[in-house]
Amino acid sequence: MNKPKTEQEIEILRDNNLLVSKTLAEIAKHIQPGVTTAALDRVAEDFIRSNGAVPGFLGYQGYPKTLCTSVNACVVHGIPSDNEVLKEGDIVSIDCGTFKDGFYGDSAYTFAVGEISTEVANLLKYTKESLQLGAQKAMDKFRIGDIASAVQTHVEAQGYSVVREMVGHGLGRNMHEKPDVPNYGKAGTGKKLMDGMVICIEPMINLGKRQVYIGRDGWSIMTLDGKPSAHFEYAVAVGHHGPDILTTFSYIEEVLKQKGQIY
Ligand code: MF3
Ligand code: CO
Repeated sequence: MNKPKTEQEIEILRDNNLLVSKTLAEIAKHIQPGVTTAALDRVAEDFIRSNGAVPGFLGYQGYPKTLCTSVNACVVHGIPSDNEVLKEGDIVSIDCGTFKDGFYGDSAYTFAVGEISTEVANLLKYTKESLQLGAQKAMDKFRIGDIASAVQTHVEAQGYSVVREMVGHGLGRNMHEKPDVPNYGKAGTGKKLMDGMVICIEPMINLGKRQVYIGRDGWSIMTLDGKPSAHFEYAVAVGHHGPDILTTFSYIEEVLKQKGQIY
């Protein structure tokens, strides 16, 4: 378990996660049929560096890029590629990290490429809602299991499944700190949350079955049944009076509105 963060540390984390939020909005402007995931990665790297930070994922345990770009049946950790062209009807999870002033930012959003089926649009809607419901439990009167249960209950009611192998995490001077933040579990169980803990909640939710495997590149996590998967991620500081959500999707959704994609 990591120590709770000081107010000053939380402000640095807020600053990092605000930059991640703005980077994701910048990418939103470029997501369209025909664009490659490597082109999105270049947009992100330039934007992060021109805002005085460095990409948080680049070089992390040998990871080669700024973003994780996970298309359709890729759950998370898809590596951007010049050979991967987005097409109408795809979904793509864009996971982005920054590092500045000694701390990390880390958030993700799953985008539609052009028009997507109602079935997949609903997967995105309920996955994002599950994140928001989980984040409401980031208060010191709750436990890790309260977050997990809020996420799991919401998506399983729709017949979706929760990926077990990958979990959320603490965030701070390291990208992955204790505690683990699973997206499945029982309310009232698990570690007690403490005021000032900063955690990333990141539901990875499959349209079909929950089983996954590691792709041939050694990074990408794929659904076994080949059906699509959605992923949204918030960095949140646990509070006494309420959660302090350090990520905002408002910049992204402003861009999506201008593109005529309403959420
Ligand atoms: N947000 C991702 C996670 O929490 C971070 C990507 S790890 C990297 O797992 F290795 F790809 F950088
Ligand atoms: Co994360």
